[in-house]
Amino acid sequence: MSRLLSLVLAESAVELVPKEIASHSAVRAWSRRKGKPASELILDQNYHYAAIHRLARMAERRGRPDIVHYCLLLALGSPLNMEGHLRCYVHTVNEKVITVNPKARLPRQSDRFVSLLEQLFSTRVVPRVGEPLLSLNDGGLTDIIRKVEGDYVVALSTLGKPKSMEEVAGLMVDHEHPVLLIGGFSTGHFSKETLGLANEVFQIYPKSLEAWTVVARAVYDYERASGLDD
Ligand SMILES: C[S@@+](CC[C@H](N)C(=O)[O-])C[C@H]1O[C@@H](n2cnc3c(N)ncnc32)[C@H](O)[C@@H]1O
Repeated sequence: MSRLLSLVLAESAVELVPKEIASHSAVRAWSRRKGKPASELILDQNYHYAAIHRLARMAERRGRPDIVHYCLLLALGSPLNMEGHLRCYVHTVNEKVITVNPKARLPRQSDRFVSLLEQLFSTRVVPRVGEPLLSLNDGGLTDIIRKVEGDYVVALSTLGKPKSMEEVAGLMVDHEHPVLLIGGFSTGHFSKETLGLANEVFQIYPKSLEAWTVVARAVYDYERASGLDD
């Protein structure tokens, strides 16, 4: 099996605290506690809930680094990744791309993961010396698809055509470099631009699922469709 699945957590709710809420009391309190300026903190609903609701744009879906954390833990721990057939990318709401080394062992604890992201946003690569485990670049979904030479792009969304994940996986394994877009956000839908990059948009269940549930199903069904468990 030489094909490689690129899993992209798209439009993910990962960003630094925006300037417009940097002086909010919830952010200042967290900044004091962490000993970092607000400009170096990752926006996090766990700690900045009151401040996030002051944001003018899409407040309800911002500040959810936990979604990316759970999705990556699931994906990186899968047999598909262990056998070298998976690449993970995080595309963020502000057009940044995090490239994840398949060998990365992420912290299990969410606050430690967020601290790692803060380090990444500050130094652009972690660790600073040696083989990069996470690297951060400016760029969009088009850059990722071009880089991985994506030949079949599937977006999963409740707005898509109904098809079981098993069937979707069956379609993807017919390609060398399939790309799977799963939203790294909690509510709402992909932008028109994102949907426009997909060859197909599929709904794998009639109700909205958590992103990490979708990742778990997608990776497992892809493993089976590609014969990894034979
Ligand atoms: C929590 S959902 C976002 C909510 C959004 N209302 C939705 O249902 O697509 C996060 C991501 O999981 C995927 N997802 C969730 N439920 C899905 C479903 N039933 N079919 C296909 N994809 C789904 C989509 O990629 C979505 O962007």
